Amino acid sequence: MTDFKNKAVIVTGGGKGIGQAISLAFARAGAHVLCADVDDPAGQAVVEAAATASGQLIYQHADVATSAACKGLVERAVELWGGVDVLVNNVGIQPMNSYLPAHELPEEMWDRIIDVNLKSGFLMTKYAAPVMKQRGGGVIINTASVQGLQSAKGISAYAASKGGMLSLTRQLALEYAADNIRVLAVNPGTIETPLAAASTGNDYAALRREGAKAHPIGRIGKPEEIASVVLFLASDAASFMTGEFVNVDGGLMAKGAWAE
Ligand SMILES: NC(=O)c1ccc[n+]([C@@H]2O[C@H](COP(=O)([O-])OP(=O)(O)OC[C@H]3O[C@@H](n4cnc5c(N)ncnc54)[C@H](O)[C@@H]3O)[C@@H](O)[C@H]2O)c1
Repeated sequence: MTDFKNKAVIVTGGGKGIGQAISLAFARAGAHVLCADVDDPAGQAVVEAAATASGQLIYQHADVATSAACKGLVERAVELWGGVDVLVNNVGIQPMNSYLPAHELPEEMWDRIIDVNLKSGFLMTKYAAPVMKQRGGGVIINTASVQGLQSAKGISAYAASKGGMLSLTRQLALEYAADNIRVLAVNPGTIETPLAAASTGNDYAALRREGAKAHPIGRIGKPEEIASVVLFLASDAASFMTGEFVNVDGGLMAKGAWAE
C-alpha cells in the first residue's frame, strides 16, 4: 500500500491528540477511517475536520478496553468497507492521579491503565486479524512510548503497558508474518497533546518550554509528526519492516540518561 485510497483503517483513541492527527492523515490520503473514542464531541470535531478530505471518516463511540466495543468496531468496518486493511492501536491513558509509587497505586488504576493501553491492542487484533487474513494481509501499528524503553518514577502501570505493547508488537509480527500482516510500533517522545499537557496543568507553554530542554532537537513534537511516520509504516514503502519499533522522539532515546 503506498496509496491509501479506499483502504479501511481503524484508529483507536482517534478523537484527540496523536490519534486525531493519524485519523485525519489517513482520511486526507484517501482512506476510509473508523475513528474510535469515548469523547463524543472530540469525535464529532474530527468528522468535521475531515469533511474536505478525499477519504471518508466515521466516528464511533467505543471504550476499547472492552471486548464488545473492539468486536463492534471491526464488525462496523466490515459492514461499511468489507474488511480492515490498517489497524492503529493508538489509544492510551496516563492519568495524573496515577503518578504514584507502585505500593500506593490502587489496583483498579493499574487494571484500567493496562486494559486501555495494552489489552485493547490484544482485543482489537483478536477481532481484526481474522478479517485481515481473509483480505490477504494488512498492517497493525501500535502506539507505544519511549517510556516502554526507559522509565521514570511513579509510572509503573504506564511503563509496563508500553513495554508490553512493544513485546506484543514483536509477538504478533511473528504470529501473522505468514499471513502478510505486518506489525510495527512507534515510540513518541513528548508530543503536544491533551495527555502530555495534563502534566503541566494544561499549560501548553510550560509543556513546550520544559519539553524543549529534554529533547536534543530542542522542542517537543507535533501529533502530525507521529502521523506521518505511522502512514509510512503502514505503506508499501515499509514493506520489509515488521516486529520493529521506531522512536519518533527528537533524539530523546539517543541521548541516554547520562547526557545532561
Ligand atoms: N503525547 C505524548 O507525549 C505521548 C508520548 C508517548 C506516547 N504517547 C502515546 O500516544 C497515544 C496517544 O496519546 P495522546 O497524547 O494523543 O493522548 P490524548 O489523551 O491526547 O488522546 C487520547 C485519546 O484517546 C481517547 N481515549 C481514552 N480512553 C479511551 C478508551 N478507553 N477508548 C477509546 N478512546 C479512549 C481519549 O478520549 C483521547 O481522545 C497514547 O497511547 C499515549 O500513551 C503519547
